[in-house]
Amino acid sequence: MARRWLVPGGLGFIGSAFVRLVLREHPGVAVTVLDAMTYAANAANVAEVAADPRYRFVKGDIADAAAVDDAVGDGVEAIVNFAAETHVDRSILDPEAFIRTDVVGTHVLLEAVRRHGIARFLHVSTDEVYGDVEHGASTESDSVRPRSPYAASKAGGDLLVLAYFATFGTPVLITRGSNTYGPFQYPEKLIPLFVTNLLEGTQVPVYGDGLQVRDWLYVDDHARGIAHVLEHGACGDVYNLGGGNSRTNLEITKELVRLTGRDWDASVRHVTDRAGHDRRYALDASKARALGWSPRVDFANGLAETVEWYRAREEWWRPIKSGEFRDYYRRQYALR
Ligand code: TYD
Repeated sequence: MARRWLVPGGLGFIGSAFVRLVLREHPGVAVTVLDAMTYAANAANVAEVAADPRYRFVKGDIADAAAVDDAVGDGVEAIVNFAAETHVDRSILDPEAFIRTDVVGTHVLLEAVRRHGIARFLHVSTDEVYGDVEHGASTESDSVRPRSPYAASKAGGDLLVLAYFATFGTPVLITRGSNTYGPFQYPEKLIPLFVTNLLEGTQVPVYGDGLQVRDWLYVDDHARGIAHVLEHGACGDVYNLGGGNSRTNLEITKELVRLTGRDWDASVRHVTDRAGHDRRYALDASKARALGWSPRVDFANGLAETVEWYRAREEWWRPIKSGEFRDYYRRQYALR
């Protein structure tokens, strides 16, 4: 019988890449996706594996203990938690959902791990918990200094996970990934928003001077890193998964304008900066590299392939941009 992993948030961007990777490359593993199907989830993200007999889907919220119990059933070996509210700008508009999913939901999962004696709980987190990094790169032993409601909710979840290890010996692991890009990313984050705006021929809103720095990681490399840490990491430990591709937002914008064949002056607009905007994130990923993981996708190629994916898959993103997204976009950008 296959080992079964429960993947909360498996219909989202990184979660669905993980589900596709596991069903493709781990023949002895079956997957149950638990997903609340909030705005950023999309069944189309797992369409290519949905008919696999090792794939099962349960609709439910990680903050709902009964739903989690149902999904766990008997015989789940590991939980790999991707379920989260993740967009900083939405956390500024409306922080509450972040606390419910990223803190309360994480706690409900930890309790399920204890109750059912699940062998491993990997919690997917983010470099944003380290806060603004003026110089150098964050290591796993650095303190968390979150500065947005999103980052604070993720840091709260991380601290609970580590406290459960210290207090109850719960078998936990945490990965902290850097900014992730690639196919199937909901078009609210920098790269998919800018690519789809440019393909539509509308302007792209650069916050402030655009000189903020992020470290970019291709989504399949991120998913592979999580699988690697799940199988080889030490319980109670945190592993940074950084792409090693530091770029300013203006550098990213320039490359996207070039790849879509648009005109800079007609396409790029500087707008009011994000409140509390972190200037720079940078991860030291040497611990995960020493464990045997390293990113494989070259950034220039990954970005070009991502643009081509959005160009070819309009039927995936156009319905998203004409739905709930429209109201969000107006709230978020109209007054900037
Ligand atoms: P984002 O994709 O929201 O990720 P995060 O805030 O988690 O790093 O943003 C990446 C960078 O791009 C960040 O510095 C904010 C900037 N940005 C813009 O300049 N304009 C935008 O419309 C968005 C969404 C982001």
